[in-house]
Amino acid sequence: MGAFQKRLTLCCLVACIALLASAPAKALDNGLALTPPMGWNSWNKFQCNVSEELIKGAADAMVSSGMKDAGYEYVVIDDCWQVDRDAAGNIVVDAQRFPSGMKALGDYVHSKGLKFGIYSDAGLKTCAGRPGSAGHEYQDAIQYASWGVDYLKYDWCHTGKANAEWAYTTMRDALKASGRPILFSMCEWGSAKPWLWAKDIGNMWRTTGDISDCWDCPKKDQLGFVKILDMQDGLETYAGPGHWNDPDMLEVGNGGMTITEYRAHFSLWCLLAAPLISGNDLKNMTPDIKEILTNKEVIAVNQDALGMQGRRAKRDADAEVWVKQLKDGGRAVILFNRRASETSISFTWEQIGYPAHLSASVRDLWAKKDLGKFDGKWVATVPSHGVVMIKVMP
Ligand code: GLA
Repeated sequence: MGAFQKRLTLCCLVACIALLASAPAKALDNGLALTPPMGWNSWNKFQCNVSEELIKGAADAMVSSGMKDAGYEYVVIDDCWQVDRDAAGNIVVDAQRFPSGMKALGDYVHSKGLKFGIYSDAGLKTCAGRPGSAGHEYQDAIQYASWGVDYLKYDWCHTGKANAEWAYTTMRDALKASGRPILFSMCEWGSAKPWLWAKDIGNMWRTTGDISDCWDCPKKDQLGFVKILDMQDGLETYAGPGHWNDPDMLEVGNGGMTITEYRAHFSLWCLLAAPLISGNDLKNMTPDIKEILTNKEVIAVNQDALGMQGRRAKRDADAEVWVKQLKDGGRAVILFNRRASETSISFTWEQIGYPAHLSASVRDLWAKKDLGKFDGKWVATVPSHGVVMIKVMP
């Protein structure tokens, strides 16, 4: 080999090593969230007003209300538990609000048979201005693991011009290096279209800005339930076991919508295979709200092992049909009425992916009633701003 060829071979070798080192690292492979995560988070109702008393109360209520039995398991403290970093760079917990410390709180949550979640941010500060994890990712991940953390929600405030894919990959790798399986919930608000690149980085990723507790808020920068819903249409192919689109936490029970609207919000989040993270005061739920959040037949649609996100199958002047394919061959179908008065909504078997000649049984998942066998199509009267949710089974 001549000197020139030798130099060329050496160059190629160096380039290959550099390429390998810079290639986005491996897969997420933490084995978590094979069905959409279910739990509770403090933010929607309590914002910065978090404390160990609040979190313990939420864990207690999750058990006593029947939420745990219905499948909810993660109890997640959102922003504002952290106040500073010490001289060694360790994150400092608000000692007034969490006097027993995070390890004790994690132990308490675990003693109820539940899992413990926490929040941080990829920037220098969190959205509420508390210390973020930028530059402290590995240190923080080790700390979380020592507290028994099972779930990290990782926000995107104060990140400047940072590259989202790199920032979230760094925290994914830090969590992995901690040695504890920690579900990774990416809260990047859909800014850099994480559905296109985050499958091997996070177990779930926010697809939009923050949800507001309203049907369709009058203000421009608020995302009411139907605005968020419309932004999910078309993202269905990106979700699956271990990696979910997250249209944000539930507002069910927070007072800004009617019971009919909350039932629609919950039904559609279930059909979207969205993470079901309740965001209300679990200690003070009315029976109506509890009935919505714990409807096992509707939750079974969300938790279906096939892990397909549902999609809009038909839209006809604010009367819509949404469908989700299920593992047993059935279809969950939602008739959704956005109009100001009740309306009749119909669909054909072909519109939900069945041949026209099929005879199939229909069960109403809110009335919990079998409605009989039908040929080729189905129709129902749907209340204003409400849903009828059924399972169709050939
Ligand atoms: C952002 C997130 C919210 C919540 C707040 C906390 O707005 O999107 O879900 O975590 O920060 O400050």
